[in-house]
Amino acid sequence: MEASRPTPSATPFSTVIRTASHEQHTEAENSSFMSDLLGGRLGVAAYRRYTEQLWFVYRALEETAETLADDPVAGPFLRPELARTAALERDLTHLGGPGWRGGLEPLPATAAYADRVRACAREWPGGYVAHHYTRYLGDLSGGQIIRGTAEKTWGFARKGDGVRFYVFEDIGNPAAFKRGYRALLDGLPVDDLEKQRVVDECKRAFALNSAVFRELGEEFPLTA
Ligand code: HEM
Repeated sequence: MEASRPTPSATPFSTVIRTASHEQHTEAENSSFMSDLLGGRLGVAAYRRYTEQLWFVYRALEETAETLADDPVAGPFLRPELARTAALERDLTHLGGPGWRGGLEPLPATAAYADRVRACAREWPGGYVAHHYTRYLGDLSGGQIIRGTAEKTWGFARKGDGVRFYVFEDIGNPAAFKRGYRALLDGLPVDDLEKQRVVDECKRAFALNSAVFRELGEEFPLTA
């Protein structure tokens, strides 16, 4: 008997969720909108439109956080140093001027994404954790690559207005923060079936992001 081989449930949950979403992560990274944006082939208007979509998503994540503060599953993830709405609003003021909010509507895919986040926040803390993980751990990781490219491509000041969304001023050591975050995932106080549902919701979160990229790609096609 191979006693040393770990059973699936012995794999830390942070590894399970990362592995399960790996393929979709690659797809999101390689979506034509993202590659065009980060390849410097799109103007700042596309970056602004993308940032606007993020604002709708983070409002959904953060406006609902208060109701989950005491929840044993989602509560421990809610850290004020992650909050992005204020940073997004500074970036959008820089990109669109003080009236940036007037008449602003989400793309249909963004509205669907924000609705799903709000529904999870209302009804299902484990699902909310899946959305929280998909956004914030990504922002703390690949987000840093996006920031550097945005600064170079559109001339924003380093870590300044325009890219504040990517700057976690109150997180001095992102690597340590991510380790703590993964430890929270590993200790998620739910059974294996619920963990599987959280993984499925994470995949859904990636699909919702890809749908937003698709619609942004339609709005900003590359003219050959
Ligand atoms: C061009 C766009 C992107 C780039 C360049 C990028 C790059 C990266 C990199 C380098 C990491 C670090 C991997 C590691 O620590 O081992 C990462 C992690 C992550 N990214 Fe992205 N990413 C992009 C888009 C996205 C999108 C659209 C999402 C989902 C909304 C996302 C979600 C995540 C998550 C959740 C993690 C953490 C994985 C984990 O350690 O559990 N990323 N990304």
